[in-house]
Amino acid sequence: KKTEFGLIGLGVMGKSLCRNLAHHGFRISMYNRHAPGQEEHIATDFKNEFPELREALPFDDLQAFVNSLQAPRKIMLMVPAGKPTDLLLEELLPLLSENDVVIEGGNSHYTDTRKRGELLSVHGILFVGCGVSGGEEGALNGPSLMPGGEKSAYRIVRPFLEAIAAKDGNREPCCAYIGPEGSGHFVKMVHNGIEYAEMQLLAEVYHIFAKTGRSPDQTADILGSWKAEENSFLLEITVDILRTREDDHWLIDRILDKAGNKGTGNWTTIAAAELGIPATMIASSLFARYISAFKDDREIMEATYGQASETSHIDKKTVFEAYRAARLVNHYQGFRLLREASAIHGWDLNLSELARIWTNGCIIRSSLMEKLPAILRSGDHMLLHPETVTSLKAWKPSLSKLVSACVESAVPVPVFSEAINFFNGFSSAHLPANLIQAQRDYFGAHTYRRNDDGGEKIHHTNWKKTKGS
Ligand code: 6PG
Repeated sequence: KKTEFGLIGLGVMGKSLCRNLAHHGFRISMYNRHAPGQEEHIATDFKNEFPELREALPFDDLQAFVNSLQAPRKIMLMVPAGKPTDLLLEELLPLLSENDVVIEGGNSHYTDTRKRGELLSVHGILFVGCGVSGGEEGALNGPSLMPGGEKSAYRIVRPFLEAIAAKDGNREPCCAYIGPEGSGHFVKMVHNGIEYAEMQLLAEVYHIFAKTGRSPDQTADILGSWKAEENSFLLEITVDILRTREDDHWLIDRILDKAGNKGTGNWTTIAAAELGIPATMIASSLFARYISAFKDDREIMEATYGQASETSHIDKKTVFEAYRAARLVNHYQGFRLLREASAIHGWDLNLSELARIWTNGCIIRSSLMEKLPAILRSGDHMLLHPETVTSLKAWKPSLSKLVSACVESAVPVPVFSEAINFFNGFSSAHLPANLIQAQRDYFGAHTYRRNDDGGEKIHHTNWKKTKGS
């Protein structure tokens, strides 16, 4: 008997999704390339490891895998983004038939997804570029899914995706049709950008508390006490991490302070720059990781310029309020980027629905995210929604205070500082951009607009001639 759904790529995420599908009663086929020079058959070994995979069919032959699936075939790819995905699609394409659906669930760049969709459509194959968030545990127990592509393709695979997805507070699946082309992967990319800034804010909080003489355990106690009012998955895991000991030491103290990345934060920063959206916190959290990578330089610099001083004068309440304010700004910037991309690409993204599918399963789920579907549905500017206004008015002084104190004692807080600087700029009716306009006109005759004629007309001044007059 043929199976209902196929999965290619039995890495950490692929394996967990197979078990999730099997757990929901789907008969599945699983394929992993037979590793050359190795004895074991990855798919067979995996099947034998878990009782829920009793009915699942394992393959290391792609043709046999394809033949085992009911038509139209539904095949999900969970292979590394980039070249490996293209190579696999090349191999798979000749084996498929018209109306088969391929779902690609890696962290792919949205422009690759668009190209792949076009390529497959020439052959009558339907393509869904699907963002998958939640890591290994999410994939196993319910990820947040962001499928994009042809709506007709999504309809065919919808029952499978909705069944395996996490469920929100109303038991609705954390999976919704995102939009055409690469929109699913674009949305996942921005999810990761927001994730970068959320992670960096917590890292900065940890640093501030360490500089005020707290042990990881004491910091964990403080962060743990925040959960009642400002919970998030990332806060929870941070508390766990800070409490973890190895032998007689905090494990965190033994972890090298150099952070890597796989590219999505970089892509989000580029997309924000291309679309003209000041997603400054995402960009800054990416660059904070880059600064961390220069460990050798940092060591020499510290030896030359001296260490950051203790920052004992920052109290817990200030840090908490600053953290809450900064999170609001981060979410605003991320959703503003999504809104702009939607308008430019004509994707018609439903931002409220996006926030809803991020309330569970994904890495950026949080109590704040749970409030966003209603706020975004109201159509209000997120930073002008009455609830946000009340909160930001209350917390902004702490954000300013925290950043000033950290700057004075040389504790780097790049993302907190982007939050307050963005806020100050974005809430200033007058900025010094008039001087930028004048400078551009002075050296390059780029022209400028005036505020005394409604900004309608273009002007140019011969600055050298009028100098001083
Ligand atoms: C998720 C995560 C996941 C992964 C990213 C992070 O939503 O489940 O975002 O996709 O952690 O690869 O990438 P970096 O390696 O760039 O931090």
